[in-house]
Amino acid sequence: MTSAETAVQIFHKLENEDFRILNIIETAMAKWEFVPLEQIHKYAKIPLERVTYTLEKLDKLNLTYRTRGAYTGYTLNYAGYDCLAINTLLKAKIITSFGQTLGVGKEADVYDALNPSGTRIAIKFHRLGRISFRQTRRKRGYIKEHSSWLFQSHLAAEKEFQALKRAYEHGVSVPQPLSQNRHVIAMGMIEGGELSRYKDIGDTGEVLQELLCNVKKTYLKAQLIHADLSEYNLILQPDGHILIIDWPQAVKTDHQNAKELLERDLKNVLNFFNRKFNLKLTLEDAYRYVTGEAKKLPL
Ligand SMILES: Nc1ncnc2c1ncn2[C@@H]1O[C@H](COP(=O)(O)OP(=O)(O)O)[C@@H](O)[C@H]1O
Ligand SMILES: [Mg+2]
Repeated sequence: MTSAETAVQIFHKLENEDFRILNIIETAMAKWEFVPLEQIHKYAKIPLERVTYTLEKLDKLNLTYRTRGAYTGYTLNYAGYDCLAINTLLKAKIITSFGQTLGVGKEADVYDALNPSGTRIAIKFHRLGRISFRQTRRKRGYIKEHSSWLFQSHLAAEKEFQALKRAYEHGVSVPQPLSQNRHVIAMGMIEGGELSRYKDIGDTGEVLQELLCNVKKTYLKAQLIHADLSEYNLILQPDGHILIIDWPQAVKTDHQNAKELLERDLKNVLNFFNRKFNLKLTLEDAYRYVTGEAKKLPL
């Protein structure tokens, strides 16, 4: 079970005081790797027995991790961080209920949820460090950098949301950005599958043309470079049109490695079309087109 599934399942068991304690740990994690019990007690302003009772409950539910070294301290697990984000999205009426897993990627889990008007939307939980997190935990108990992974995931969600908004506003085909909290973003639900999964995509020249037209809009209008473009982050919708997803790595076009990153994105896509559909286009032609030097593609 992924941590968001854990979070969704146990969410209804949590009461206000549980959220308060989770919140206190979250805030104090800026300062402490493991937040000492005394600190939690100090900020909670409730009797110690109630603090320890709550901490015991959170620990049993696997929302926190406890260390008993020189002192007893607590840190949030991803599931605890998930609960805080879910609670905020519910309170802000972005979502009313949670559904099923839509995709489990290397660095994110995506779920579906309902918004107050009953429309399905997608919720993406960023999970940086998950792999190294598991491996290190197996090797030496627990990793020190854990709290910084939560922070990095928060940053990734912020970056992705900003990039999505910019791209969306400039008419690039992307999921509609709806909201962001902590390491989570809410966006419009998309249909279809990753381009990598299809054997037959119809008119390959047209698909590539449409894709590069979107890369051009991203570059010239939104002034962004996706920087993680590949057949795994391109969705072919049932109507045959494409969407570009997964934007946390996006950079501005004035980034010092902009040219290199744009070239890498283009190479990934061109290699894929060449390898899979035997469609050939040179990097130079694609580059000239997306940067506006050439009006048309020789396709
Ligand atoms: N808005 C969405 N609607 C439906 N499914 C989505 C949506 N965004 C992502 N997915 C699914 O989740 C998978 C992983 O999402 P992605 O943003 O690529 O994250 P990562 O690759 O970093 O794990 C996608 O390949 C896709 O299958
Ligand atoms: Mg992806």
